[in-house]
Amino acid sequence: MLNRQGRPSAPEAGSAGAGFTTWTGHRGLAHEEPLSFEQGAKGRTAVDLPEIPKVADRLGGLAREGEIGLPGLSEPQVVRHFVRLSRQNYAIDLGVYPLGSCTMKHNPRLNEKLARLPGFADLHPMQPMATIQGALELMAQLGGWLSKLTNMPAIAMSPAAGAHGELCGLLTIRAALEARGDKRKRVLVPESAHGTNPATAAFCGYTVDPIPATADGRVDLEAFRKKLGSDVAAVMLTNPNTCGLFEREIIEVADAIHAAGGFFYCDGANFNAIVGRVRPGDLGIDAMHINLHKTFSTPHGGGGPGSGPVALSAALAPYAPLPYVVQEGDKFRLVEETEGEAKPFGRLKGFHGQMGMFVRALTYMMSHGGDGLKQVAEDAVLSANYIMAALGDVMTAPFEGPCMHEALFDDRFLKGTGVTTLDFAKAMIDEGYHPMTMYFPLVVHGALLIEPTETESKEALDEFIGALRHLAERAKAGDTARFTGAPYLAPRRRLDETAAARQPVLRWTPAQ
Ligand SMILES: Cc1ncc(COP(=O)(O)O)c(C=O)c1O
Repeated sequence: MLNRQGRPSAPEAGSAGAGFTTWTGHRGLAHEEPLSFEQGAKGRTAVDLPEIPKVADRLGGLAREGEIGLPGLSEPQVVRHFVRLSRQNYAIDLGVYPLGSCTMKHNPRLNEKLARLPGFADLHPMQPMATIQGALELMAQLGGWLSKLTNMPAIAMSPAAGAHGELCGLLTIRAALEARGDKRKRVLVPESAHGTNPATAAFCGYTVDPIPATADGRVDLEAFRKKLGSDVAAVMLTNPNTCGLFEREIIEVADAIHAAGGFFYCDGANFNAIVGRVRPGDLGIDAMHINLHKTFSTPHGGGGPGSGPVALSAALAPYAPLPYVVQEGDKFRLVEETEGEAKPFGRLKGFHGQMGMFVRALTYMMSHGGDGLKQVAEDAVLSANYIMAALGDVMTAPFEGPCMHEALFDDRFLKGTGVTTLDFAKAMIDEGYHPMTMYFPLVVHGALLIEPTETESKEALDEFIGALRHLAERAKAGDTARFTGAPYLAPRRRLDETAAARQPVLRWTPAQ
């Protein structure tokens, strides 16, 4: 039975926990945690503040008239509240986090140590240039590594995530087209693309024209060629694509879009599969974002603050957004205004980007070195193929042959079991795992997309494979309720995910 908040209610007599007649909502060491607003007392604070003298006109008539409405909590209450909440979550520090396309890999502690150095952690973006020389040099160095790894001459550092990088890339392309008086209208996007690709193109005012996939999960080159025309601004292609496959005809795609006068945007979310082995600039790519929180191991942080620098070709470099770092002799300068030959399309953020992520990413690069990064890609691909091979007899793969860094399965192995991809994913929670990405990419029916990354040991992979094998066998054996009712062992059961996405309640309103 479920209580008001959707978690299992007190054990029934005769079950584990027999003898309880009342129930607090806590389960073992997992507490049922009220909102911070529902705890504490009016006027309580975690720090002692001096009495602020009342000066009538201090705020020019803008002084607050009512209550501020913050919860009154002591320091231990605050600490416990957030620690208790964190214990209800899954995390990369708890176990394998197989979300495909998201690259949830270990965040090395060395990165954290360096990011916490006071010289980096205590900087303020409005400090005078002379006092932030080290930070600017670090940004220039990180840009240099990205430029070398992509073989692309310019790097826009300010985007705050992959999707923000896509926006940066398409605005740069639009500026380059407008500079030559070319008002193109269409952007071609493969059907398998991540949702942010068409969303970005539409946001920039383009019509999105989908490119179909071939039976082997790749872009249909002939269909793509047929869609080209003088109104096509760009193609947005992901490589390796979201089916975890390398787009073998990528050079033909680049040649064709260039011949048609358009630009080639590459979604670089999956760069971790090819870093050190393939340089996107060599493939004819004009713009590509790199999610530092995927390839270069910086934390995801619940959607931000991330970092999505964009590598640009020589044709697009002049249109890169402000601000950017230049080196003049042994000094570094953040360019904030249009100068010289540059024609920046504008700026994406108030400041220069996520310094904490820059420090972590550069630490990761320098601690691996060029050969180490190449091995990152090789190990990520090896791990995914290991999973693919180990589960090939109990789960079904939509495409033949080896994969890149992600193992993709469809739901044919669940046919006739009464278990859906969603049920299967929820049952993984009861086995102690975060579910894999499900129902994406859209071109595969009931997709289950697993990205193990290079940071998992063979033992961890074997344990994970064991859990999936067990579940696949249980589903086929008719143990349906185990799936349709899952998760049984989580702090919350099945939530209304549609309402959560479409009508999110993001604000607490006090009871009247
Ligand atoms: C293929 C692909 N493109 C773009 C994005 C968007 O990146 P971000 O989450 O950094 O905005 C993602 C994120 O998962 C992705 O997997």
